Amino acid sequence: MLPPYYPINDFGPVMKGLVIGGLGIFHVFLAQFAIGGGMLMCWFQRLAATGRLPEARRFLDGYFRFLVLVSFVLGALTGVGMWFTTIQISPRTIGLMVREFHWIWAIEWTFFCVEVVAGYAFYRYGARLPDSTRMKLLVAYTLAAWFSLFWINGILSWQLTPGGWPAGGVWSGFFNPSFWPSLLFRTITSMGTAALIACAVINAMSDLERPQRARLIQSAAWFLSPMLFMPALGVWYFRVIPADSREWVLGGSVAMTLFFSLAIGASLLIALYALVGLLRQKLYINGATATLLCALAFAATAGGEFVREGVRKPFTVRQALYSNSITPDEVARLRKTGSVTHDPYTLRDSAAYPNEQLRLGARVYRFQCSICHTLDGANGLEHLTGAWTLEQKRMNIAKLQHTKSFMPPFAGNAVELEALVQMLTWHHAGRPGDWPDSDDVAPYVQLQHWLDEAGTQPGMALAPAGPPSEAR
Ligand code: HEC
Repeated sequence: MLPPYYPINDFGPVMKGLVIGGLGIFHVFLAQFAIGGGMLMCWFQRLAATGRLPEARRFLDGYFRFLVLVSFVLGALTGVGMWFTTIQISPRTIGLMVREFHWIWAIEWTFFCVEVVAGYAFYRYGARLPDSTRMKLLVAYTLAAWFSLFWINGILSWQLTPGGWPAGGVWSGFFNPSFWPSLLFRTITSMGTAALIACAVINAMSDLERPQRARLIQSAAWFLSPMLFMPALGVWYFRVIPADSREWVLGGSVAMTLFFSLAIGASLLIALYALVGLLRQKLYINGATATLLCALAFAATAGGEFVREGVRKPFTVRQALYSNSITPDEVARLRKTGSVTHDPYTLRDSAAYPNEQLRLGARVYRFQCSICHTLDGANGLEHLTGAWTLEQKRMNIAKLQHTKSFMPPFAGNAVELEALVQMLTWHHAGRPGDWPDSDDVAPYVQLQHWLDEAGTQPGMALAPAGPPSEAR
């Protein structure tokens, strides 16, 4: 089978993966706040209704519920934004996710509808309703919000640890090895985020006396205490993800390690402040500190999401689909037929290339590399190969999966490989108007030999078939 070809958008100097990642971070942060915010409101509603904390009602009917509304509206908008960007960047991945989890998406959207209706009803009419109805609306909102996380989490965690899928069917993919640790982890993150934002909001409630504000803050701070479980959940998560992904994070890839440390460091700071300062010493947290901690929480989320997306490389769905939308089975085939022989889409600025070989190279780059690289922007190939001789480029790209095992194997024939190398070299030379076609002199026998030596399997040692061994 040949891979399907889709028109793929080009975002200039911004790497495509970064477009998804950048938007995804905001989306996750907002969506998690909307969940934790709901839980916190349930808790405060209970405190208000039982008379234990009368000022909780002021908090509930104040600015916070507005923020929760904003976050789920923005969460929904960025969610649509995610679909909009991912179908332009990785249509095949999205296609696979929709096909495999069709009904789960439908269930997720149903929960989302309940979330929107209940949340808006509370926002609009909550202040006039009796306590029991308020509580029902808040519980409906919160459960629906948490369950939309539950459903989406199964699909996202399946991408890294597909578990018994495809042999075992949809549910064995959904309840995959990293399902529970990541669901619990995200739940705790949601609660922590909501608590910190609540502290910032409480500080801004100038109509309350300081002791009242202090009591509210003390109650909100309890939502930070589950962070105690984060290290254990982190260890659990790390035990179930593939060994090679674990290695990227633990030093194998500098960027991954750095972002991972950022996430851990920021979470640790928040947890320490919460446990020692807020809960043990009953410190008062002022607006500036609360805002600073919110920024740290955002950094932790960003770092965590970056790592989660990053450690999946070279796959978007582990062992099933490479990041560049080629399946492992298709590689051997494309080595023979050529990867873009059947790609129907014309090149942008086709006329700017001096010859046919360079145009071929540009199409190979677009199809196989542009998901993770740009030419001269983020993760730019011009920069990465700038100091290499022709020979080095040929060999290292022929053996791409061994050059760096978070890249998929090169999936074209020797003619395409040479065209790609020529295109990169031409680019590096400043895109001159004249460029000789290297077909007559290219060492095709050697290129083929390197391609054969590299093989068509991924670069890291994978379990021969089925789920990664540590996932069983
Ligand atoms: C799954 C994403 C992905 C794909 C697809 C991919 N790369 Fe990479 N590539 C990376 C990452 C990440 C790096 C590491 C960059 C760094 O070290 O800063 C990298 C590094 C490189 C390097 C530098 C290697 C070194 O040892 O310094 C070259 C050259 C390269 N890629 C070429 C390519 C070419 C050519 C293609 C397409 C045939 C391609 N890559 C496809 C992710 C990818």
